[in-house]
Amino acid sequence: MANTPIPVITIDGPSGSGKGTLSRLLANELGWHFLDSGALYRLVALAARRHAIPFDDEAALQTLAAHLDVQFASDAEGQETTILLEGEEVTNLVRSEECGNDASKVAVIQSVRDALLGRQRAFCQPPGLIADGRDMGTVIFPDAKLKVFLDASLEERTARRYRQLREKGIDASIDSLFDELAERDRRDRSRAVSPLKPAPDAVTIDSSALGIQEVLTQIRQLWQRVKVQ
Ligand code: DC
Repeated sequence: MANTPIPVITIDGPSGSGKGTLSRLLANELGWHFLDSGALYRLVALAARRHAIPFDDEAALQTLAAHLDVQFASDAEGQETTILLEGEEVTNLVRSEECGNDASKVAVIQSVRDALLGRQRAFCQPPGLIADGRDMGTVIFPDAKLKVFLDASLEERTARRYRQLREKGIDASIDSLFDELAERDRRDRSRAVSPLKPAPDAVTIDSSALGIQEVLTQIRQLWQRVKVQ
């Protein structure tokens, strides 16, 4: 079956919709590869800060994105990924709110997105790929077998992010988190290149009132249906 395409499930959605946790669980369950595309934008932003490259220096950011020295290593359960940037572990640093906001700024630049395209597609390896991001179904994997757009209200996403930070012992203000997420949403949805939006053939799931297991069940059912077609 040399010509059988590698199956891809894309999970796009705004920050805090739960797509990261869900994608990891799904990849683990299916034994597939996992692409956390947001981590790549976060790494470009972090590397830019470290090399003192301003976020409006498009040429330097493009070069940085094209030559990003990064390694991802998953644990046996596929739940935790260690991230190395230029040989140094930055796993927790890239997860910070500041880095997420910076990532959203470098992500508006077309040439940065272009520079990361091949790297993202290279994650598509047998037996399959779960791709998590903003433009996975629209731009990076337009032929994906199943496209999910995972949404949730801004209030619920803020509450989730607040709980996550508190669990990690990080102090946070609900009001600032709400404002930051709103601003990030606005930037991600309104940018000219690859904006956050559902692909025309995506299935939208609103997870505002759903637990992670309920969403997982829905996606499993969708995948069962797609698989037999
Ligand atoms: O998913 P995340 O929170 O790690 O993403 C951080 C930022 O990176 C997000 O606000 C916008 C950008 N991003 C993007 O533009 N395209 C993607 N496929 C993934 C992330």
